[in-house]
Amino acid sequence: MVNKTLFLAVLIFVGLYSCQTNEEGTSTAKKSTWTPKMDEPSELAQIMRDLNEEGLQRKASLEKGELFSGSIENLLKMVAATPTEPHMKGPAFEPHAMAFNASYGAVQSASTVAEQIEAHNNLVKSCVACHNNFCQGPISRIELLQIN
Ligand code: HEC
Repeated sequence: MVNKTLFLAVLIFVGLYSCQTNEEGTSTAKKSTWTPKMDEPSELAQIMRDLNEEGLQRKASLEKGELFSGSIENLLKMVAATPTEPHMKGPAFEPHAMAFNASYGAVQSASTVAEQIEAHNNLVKSCVACHNNFCQGPISRIELLQIN
């Protein structure tokens, strides 16, 4: 009984830790010394990095008062993508991904800067909503995408 609890605690710890390790992996990824072989992200983690990067670009563009029109091709693959650890995806993942897709669509179809800022901030909320369930590590970083 005690062993079982301990085992679970270790599992949970390892899970959280690997999520945060990945986040650190991203900051090293920005340095020129980064080599994919040494730190190869999962399929899902790579989509996430692209989304985060795109979010930063969109924020910068909107803060200059310009509409942003990029889009991530592999977004729809999110649902099928393999995570670093199986526990990073559960039954609630898909509804979150669908909600995210709807918010993403609103960002794409916004026709004014004000509209896109609102849609962008809603999108950031749907990132955080899913992360609350599956991957808490990057949340503070995701919140930096918010446009005030
Ligand atoms: C449907 C759920 C979901 C949504 C929506 C979501 N994420 Fe994630 N995110 C995850 C999961 C699960 C992981 C862990 C992936 C892994 O390590 O394989 C992750 C990982 C990350 C990481 C760390 C990637 C790495 O380097 O390992 C970042 C950064 C991130 N997400 C940013 C975002 C941003 C920004 C958004 C919104 C634009 C977003 N996420 C939307 C579930 C989600």
